[in-house]
Amino acid sequence: MREVVVSSPAKINLSLGVGAVRGDGFHPLATVYQAIGLYDEVAARPGTDGDFSLTVEGDERLSVSEVPTDDSNLAMQAAKLLAARRGVQAAVHLTIHKGIPVAGGLAGGSADAAAALVACDALWGTKTSRQELMTIAAELGSDVPFSLVGGTAIGTGRGEVVAPAMAKGSYWWVVLESEKGLSTPAVYREFDRMHADQPPPAPGVPDQLMAALRTGDIERLGAALSNDLQPAALRLRPELEQSLGYGIEGSAHGAIVSGSGPSCLFLTEGQPHAVQVAGWLKGYGLGPVSFAPGPVAGARVVSR
Ligand code: C5P
Repeated sequence: MREVVVSSPAKINLSLGVGAVRGDGFHPLATVYQAIGLYDEVAARPGTDGDFSLTVEGDERLSVSEVPTDDSNLAMQAAKLLAARRGVQAAVHLTIHKGIPVAGGLAGGSADAAAALVACDALWGTKTSRQELMTIAAELGSDVPFSLVGGTAIGTGRGEVVAPAMAKGSYWWVVLESEKGLSTPAVYREFDRMHADQPPPAPGVPDQLMAALRTGDIERLGAALSNDLQPAALRLRPELEQSLGYGIEGSAHGAIVSGSGPSCLFLTEGQPHAVQVAGWLKGYGLGPVSFAPGPVAGARVVSR
């Protein structure tokens, strides 16, 4: 086989409940994930000289040059871990084509790792079970298992324990990007500082949110969006608060910081409504802005 191409979606958190930092440095989470139609693609082809190698391409508007191409790249780690677990001797060359903003709180690195797992498994013909792929994904990062699953799902543990959620309806999300990304660990550290005197309660998924998803009620969904990391992200990027307000003024049903930020999300009814809200934000000189439907499927082979 010469090449396998896998596409993998961005993730957003419709709710992100965060508890007090654990002994291992991670935070217990209770989150509702949704995969949205902004995609990275990972192409895997046989490596030369027994080497694992990686190139990254895409629009510099997405800060593509900030993606490492060495062993710190999560997709590279994914390929090597799968090879080790499955006893594969062959090497691989990965080409990541970015469509997801880098360090935007949209789990682009996790999407690449999930795509690399699926692509290498197909390239090598290792036929790894779904269960084992999920186990390897969890070792790579908290969001990687969800990137494999997609759709709408509940995440617990440090985010890596994923179960599908009962959800109806499809939505369009306007994504407001920032020129400069935010570091996820830095936002969690800010969260810890903000809770230094009073530890946060154990995290939970809001009942209101689950009810809105079960009925597909967009008004209710917009009102129930929540993110415990948002105050920390806003402390690091105070200007985002105004951006969220502009989206509501522009008729979005809800506005929230995406994960650890700095991307902001605006809930809309369909593509025409998304175009309208995106235009409103651009009218304030904000951007870049994109929009995408959700939920969509997780990492999948698009060509081989
Ligand atoms: O799991 P992942 O490697 O994506 O996490 C990146 C960083 O985000 C961690 O090193 C940690 O600082 C923070 N994190 C956390 N609690 C989580 C998930 C991530 O503190 N549940």
